[in-house]
Amino acid sequence: MDSRNFSLADFMLIEDADIMGRARLFKEFSNDVFERRHAQYRRVSIDGSGPIMRVQDKYTGSIKEMVYLASNDYLNLTKHPRTIAAGKAALEKYGSGAGSVPLLGGTLDLHIELEEKVAKFKGCESAIIYTSGFGSNCGTLLSMLQENDIAILDMLVHASILDGCKNTNTKFFRHNDMKSLEHALTKVKDKYRTKLIIVDGVYSMDGDIAHLDKIVELAKAYGAYVMVDEAHASGVIGKTGRGTPQHFNIEGKVDIVAGTFSKALGSVGGFIAAKSELIELLHFYSRPYMFSTAMTPQSAGSLIASMEVIEDEPQLREKLWSNITYFKKNLLNLGFNLGDAETAIFPIIIGDDLKVKEVCRRLHDMDIYVNPVLYPAVPKKLARIRMSIMATHTKEHLDQALNALEVVGKEYNII
Ligand SMILES: Cc1ncc(COP(=O)(O)O)c(C=O)c1O
Repeated sequence: MDSRNFSLADFMLIEDADIMGRARLFKEFSNDVFERRHAQYRRVSIDGSGPIMRVQDKYTGSIKEMVYLASNDYLNLTKHPRTIAAGKAALEKYGSGAGSVPLLGGTLDLHIELEEKVAKFKGCESAIIYTSGFGSNCGTLLSMLQENDIAILDMLVHASILDGCKNTNTKFFRHNDMKSLEHALTKVKDKYRTKLIIVDGVYSMDGDIAHLDKIVELAKAYGAYVMVDEAHASGVIGKTGRGTPQHFNIEGKVDIVAGTFSKALGSVGGFIAAKSELIELLHFYSRPYMFSTAMTPQSAGSLIASMEVIEDEPQLREKLWSNITYFKKNLLNLGFNLGDAETAIFPIIIGDDLKVKEVCRRLHDMDIYVNPVLYPAVPKKLARIRMSIMATHTKEHLDQALNALEVVGKEYNII
């Protein structure tokens, strides 16, 4: 099979092959991807997230030291001495697991402390924590919205939100387009029990910011609620890193603030912050909370420390932003198309899937770790490489990446 003629979307559409048949065909596809040296997924790290990552090269078997431009660990809190110490202390005190689901014995005082910290961090009354951000978005939406409700979605919201809306009606508006949102709101007016507008604060494949201030105004005018997914915004935007509501000075005005602990907060898990009555409802109706064992003590301990570090060490976020400004200025000077990127996520939009695979292969060989993002993860003809930078990248790391990108950009006529 020639993998260049197929995308990941194709293997779910084959009608005359059952699941094992589809798996066999997919294996043929993966083998061809590997032979063409396009296999840039599931690269194995031997030392975890940092500005330089040591990676096992699938093709040579050797260890490569790569400039790592694919982490969501924007402040590199995964490796901060305080998050490590707090995680170790929690592990010693409570053991390696919580032992049960939160409702039936798994709730630790450490979880309550984390919930209170999150609520405060997000300027909300209360918060509920989950073991994954995906589960928290998906589970909350599945439990809140049913057949007489509607979710009004930015067309680029995260997959966890799309999956969470499978029990309800949906209407999409054009990405970050307030006219399109208003049009959608006029269409659904008075027709549904709950109208919930859902957006990402920072979009994961584009790095742009939702117009949350305008969205909140429109919601008010049309009797809708607003939910924002703060996955890539927490710790990055806002005067003190509290995310999109703080960025627009509208803290306390967003009905549901969702987020993950897996990106700038440097661990794993997710949360919803909102009015306390809604959080209490979720304790008893949100299935990934009720039927899944509580977060590990080590994660909860590390996360409490992460939020303290964000508060006490603003210099980390300042360093991240000076890196963002430097990297962006140089990429634009080189002539790359970055779309509307304005945060720590940098898409280089190339268009053609095959070209993106080739560029990523070349960059891998030059010790630069970036991710290919292809259809169906992004619309057809908008394939891109996705990079993200961290506070701990030095100017030398960024220059090494910029030099390689310049060489490859010229080779493939991207700049
Ligand atoms: C915008 C957005 N929301 C939610 C998630 C899910 O978060 P988690 O990785 O904690 O499951 C992600 C993660 O990739 C994301 O990018």
